[in-house]
Amino acid sequence: MHISSLLGLLAFATAASAVPHTAPKMAAKRSQTAHSASSIKNLKNNIKKVVVLEMENRSVDNLLGGQTIEGLDNPINNGPFCNPYNLTNPGQGTVCSQAGDLDSILDDPDHSVTGNNIEFYGTFTPNNDDIASGKLTPVQRGFVFEQLRQYSDANKTSLAQQVLNYYTEDQVPVMTSLVQNYLTFNHWHSDLPGPTAPNRAYVLSGTSAGHGSNDQAFDADVHGLTQRSIFQQLTETNRTWKNYITDPSEQMADALFFNWVYTSGNQGLAVPLDDFYSDAASGTLPDFSFIDPSCCGVGTTSMHPTGLISDGETLIRDVYTALRTSPHWNETLLLLTFDETGGFHDHVPPPLAPRPDDLTYTETAPNGEQYIFSFNRLGGRVPTLLISPWVEQGVVEQKGMNSNGETVSYSASSLLRTLGYLWDFEPFTPRVGGAASFDHLIQSSMRTDTPDSLPEPSAFARIMNGKSTQQQIQ
Ligand SMILES: *[C@@H]1O[C@H](CO)[C@@H](O)[C@H](O)[C@H]1NC(C)=O
Ligand SMILES: *[C@@H]1O[C@H](CO)[C@@H](O)[C@H](O)[C@H]1NC(C)=O
Ligand SMILES: *[C@@H]1O[C@H](CO)[C@@H](O)[C@H](O)[C@H]1NC(C)=O
Ligand SMILES: *[C@@H]1O[C@H](CO)[C@@H](O)[C@H](O)[C@H]1NC(C)=O
Repeated sequence: MHISSLLGLLAFATAASAVPHTAPKMAAKRSQTAHSASSIKNLKNNIKKVVVLEMENRSVDNLLGGQTIEGLDNPINNGPFCNPYNLTNPGQGTVCSQAGDLDSILDDPDHSVTGNNIEFYGTFTPNNDDIASGKLTPVQRGFVFEQLRQYSDANKTSLAQQVLNYYTEDQVPVMTSLVQNYLTFNHWHSDLPGPTAPNRAYVLSGTSAGHGSNDQAFDADVHGLTQRSIFQQLTETNRTWKNYITDPSEQMADALFFNWVYTSGNQGLAVPLDDFYSDAASGTLPDFSFIDPSCCGVGTTSMHPTGLISDGETLIRDVYTALRTSPHWNETLLLLTFDETGGFHDHVPPPLAPRPDDLTYTETAPNGEQYIFSFNRLGGRVPTLLISPWVEQGVVEQKGMNSNGETVSYSASSLLRTLGYLWDFEPFTPRVGGAASFDHLIQSSMRTDTPDSLPEPSAFARIMNGKSTQQQIQ
């Protein structure tokens, strides 16, 4: 057994909130084995277009917490999961996850590196040696405490509900339909227990190059990331890509993080989302499409607080419809994923993972202490689905396998590991090299029963009375 799965079990055993878990459904017996020559050949034969839609800041327990599909380890199947109100004073009681959440959360939970620390380990500055040796494992008990600390003047019950509650199947009809018709990962983690931009860098380059916050380097006018990205790799091997962006101000245009995109004169490949719809319709999509939603307030589509969940579902539905009706559909794989958990509770402890490089990141925690992070562990679970006529219908994938044959959780780097097989490139970093690939999840025959359309989302309850400054969402 790989060390990370062992750590996961240990953490479960010690989590005070743990309740008996039902055994996950055994993965269906598949004809392909990850990383094998025949699986890679099958992948190359059948998938010609890859589309990635990366949303914002939601955990599995939050967005998919109400999905009743067998094999998904979430609050409705195995919960409720509980947190104490006060980590150091059990007398203040505990609060547990409940079905039903709001379309918009007003009080954005902490998702900095040290915020994740207190949420996972109960301290802003856990001992890194103890983490690395397995002596200290995350118990996922500090989410409510940290939310209360951040918004101390507010209604306790309502703040706890913001981070612990989950969406019912009816509240997220688009996600529900996709879960029931395609493949959902039970153990897909963000690569960094921290915020948006560094996690997005991991997805595209297998490292954040030492960045642990949304610092200036990520601004389009700075484009300060110098490491190799998927965009450079594809251009240099005569493959095509576009970064479809929703926000014309380029606040969210991930290709523009990378210095190479400018030095090679390819910044024009960051194009408006409307182009995605016309390229899909005319059968002129590039090999690799990376779609950025708009972020992050009301009226944006990423699902990041305070943006509406229902607006995010509308974007997902539109992208699906464009692909489903495209001449490319029969050769397309859509990966729907999230950058990070956004400070929303998830009860599954993130495992250790290989360091991508020898860089560290230092952050001053809210209590004034310094924390040095060496990028040796994953963030929380994020909702991730494979959508294609080439994947099984309504299945939940458990852990995967890395190229050493070890059972490991999937992570954002699983994308680059798999694309390396599809388009013949080596892992950019040891993090990617150690990641589980998902080439074997492509079947050898194409389904003809995929839904033509998805249900229409609609706005639902949106007002959270948590914050003292009660904000009415328009
Ligand atoms: C948590 O409990 C400790 C110990 O009783 C106390 O000092 C602290 O003020 C409490 N924190 C909150 C936010 O109530
Ligand atoms: C606190 O929030 C809960 C849940 O939203 C609500 O039921 C309750 O009425 C609120 N209490 C106060 C004092 O506003
Ligand atoms: C890419 O195309 C150019 C121009 O046709 C060619 O010279 C080069 O060898 C190709 N590179 C690869 C990696 O196929
Ligand atoms: C896709 O596959 C379906 C089912 O085999 C077939 O009817 C359809 O013509 C194919 N579409 C294209 C564009 O090749």
